Amino acid sequence: MSISTLPSAPELTTLPKVPRWRTLLGSLAMAREPIRNLDRALSHHGDTVGLHLGGVRPCIVTRDPALAQHILQKNHRRYLKSDLTHGLIRYLGRGLLTNEGADWLRQRRLIQPGFHKQRLTALTRLMQAAAEEWSADLRARLQAAPQSTLTVDIHAEMTRVAFHIIAQATFGTSMADAERNRLSDILTRIQAFYVRTIRQPYLRPWFMARGAYKKHEALSQELRELVRGYIRRRQSTVSESPAPDDLLQMLLDARYEDTGEGMSEAQLLDEANILLLAGHETSANALSWLFYLLAQHPQAAQRVRQERVAAGLAQRPPEFAELPQLTYAQQVVQETMRLYPPAWILDRVALEDDEFRGLPIPKGTLFSIYIYGIHRHPGLWPDPDAFRPERFASGQEPPIPAYAYLPFGGGPRLCVGNHFALTEIQLVLLEALHHFDFQPTAPDAPGTDPLVTLRPKGPLWLRVTNASATRVA
Ligand code: HEM
Repeated sequence: MSISTLPSAPELTTLPKVPRWRTLLGSLAMAREPIRNLDRALSHHGDTVGLHLGGVRPCIVTRDPALAQHILQKNHRRYLKSDLTHGLIRYLGRGLLTNEGADWLRQRRLIQPGFHKQRLTALTRLMQAAAEEWSADLRARLQAAPQSTLTVDIHAEMTRVAFHIIAQATFGTSMADAERNRLSDILTRIQAFYVRTIRQPYLRPWFMARGAYKKHEALSQELRELVRGYIRRRQSTVSESPAPDDLLQMLLDARYEDTGEGMSEAQLLDEANILLLAGHETSANALSWLFYLLAQHPQAAQRVRQERVAAGLAQRPPEFAELPQLTYAQQVVQETMRLYPPAWILDRVALEDDEFRGLPIPKGTLFSIYIYGIHRHPGLWPDPDAFRPERFASGQEPPIPAYAYLPFGGGPRLCVGNHFALTEIQLVLLEALHHFDFQPTAPDAPGTDPLVTLRPKGPLWLRVTNASATRVA
C-alpha cells in the first residue's frame, strides 16, 4: 500500500515549518548531526517540513515517498538538481551526475548502454580480482597477527577496495597503487571541503581568506591531469587488440546517434571524473555498513555462506550470471542499503510552479528528499530500525510501497551504475565471508557522518578472524 493511498494521507495545503530563528540557532547542531536533527524535525512536524538550511536557505525536507516519486519520476520535468549538486561542477566538471537538460539526456543515452550485461560480465572478473587482492592482503596481515586476530577499520579497508574496483573498471589494470591512492585522496578532500561550504555557508568568507577555494581548485586540476594522462595513453595504444573491456574504452567507443562522433576530450574527462566520484564512496560506505551489520548478526553471515555452498559455489567465486541465484546475499545487501543508504539525501529545485496534494510549490522551491528518513519511516517499514533481510524476499506481504525504497534514486536519473554496484558489493561480500569472520568491538551503534554520502563517523572498528573451516564448507 502506497503512503499516498493511506486513508490518513493528509492534504498538504499548508506546510509545517520549523521557525527560522530555531534553524538558525540549531544550524551548528544540524551541520554536526543532520540525521538526528532532521529526524527530530520530521517526527515533530510531519513527513514534509519547511526549514532553513544552514539557518539561511529555505528548503522543504520530505520523507514522504509519494512526494519523492512526484519529484523524481511523475513530474521530473519540472525539477532540476539544485546548485547543491551543480556546485560540484567547479571541481569535477559536468558529467552525468552534475549535468542537466538536453545535454544530460544526450550523455545518458550515450553512456547507459555501456553498463549492459556483457560489459558487467567482463567487469565481474576484474572486480573479483580486486576483491581477492584485498582478501589475500588481509589474510597475510591476519597470519602475522597475535592469535590470528586483527582489529581493522572496515571503512578504510572498504574505501581501498571500492576505489581499486572503480579505478580498475574505469581505467583497466595498469594503474599503480600510489596513483590510485592519490586519485582517491584528491576526491575525498574535494568532497569534504565542498560539503563544508554547503553545510556552513557562513564560513565561505573565511575559506576565501584562507585560500581554501584555490587549494581545492588546484587539487581538481591535478585530478584532471591524472585522468587526462590515462585517456591519452589509451588513445595512443588504440590499435592494440583486443581493446580493453573497461569503462574508459566504453566512453571512448561511444558515438552520438545524430552525428556519429565520439565525445570531446573535455567531456570524456568530466564523465570519467564523475564515474570515479559516483562509483567510489557510495559503494565503500555500503560495504562498510554491510560488514558492520553482519558482525552484529553472525547468523545472517552464516546463512550467506550456506547459500553459496548450496548453490555449488563453495570452491569458486560466482560468475555474473550466477549472482541472482544467491537471493539471501542480495537481501542482506538490500537491507543494508535500507538502513544505511549511501546516498542519504537528494536535492531538487522546482523549475516552474507545481502542486502536490493541495500544496502549492512555487518555482524555485528547494527540496531535500530525505532517503534515510523514508527508509526508516515507521509507517512504511515494520520495526524500521531492525536488520531483517527477509523483508526483501519475494512474495512478502504487504509489498514494499513505491518509492519507499530508493537507494539508487528513481525516475530517469536513477543511478546508472546500480547493477555495477550491486555486483561489486555481492562479490566483495562473498569473498570476505569465504575467508573471514567479523565481530563487533563495541556494543553501541557507530555514529554516522553524512557528507555527500553516508559514512561512519570516524573509524569503524571490527575484529577479524579466519572463517573457521567447518563454517565455510
Ligand atoms: C552502492 C552504490 C551506489 C549508490 C547507493 C548510488 C546511488 C545513486 C543515486 C541515489 C543516484 C541518483 C542521484 C540523484 O538523483 O540526484 C546516483 C546517480 C549516479 N550514479 Fe550511483 N550509486 C552507487 C554506485 C554507483 C557506481 C558504482 C557508479 C559508476 C560506476 C555510479 C554512477 C552514477 C552516475 C553516473 C549517476 C548519475 C546518473 C544520472 O544522473 O544520469 N553509481 N547514484
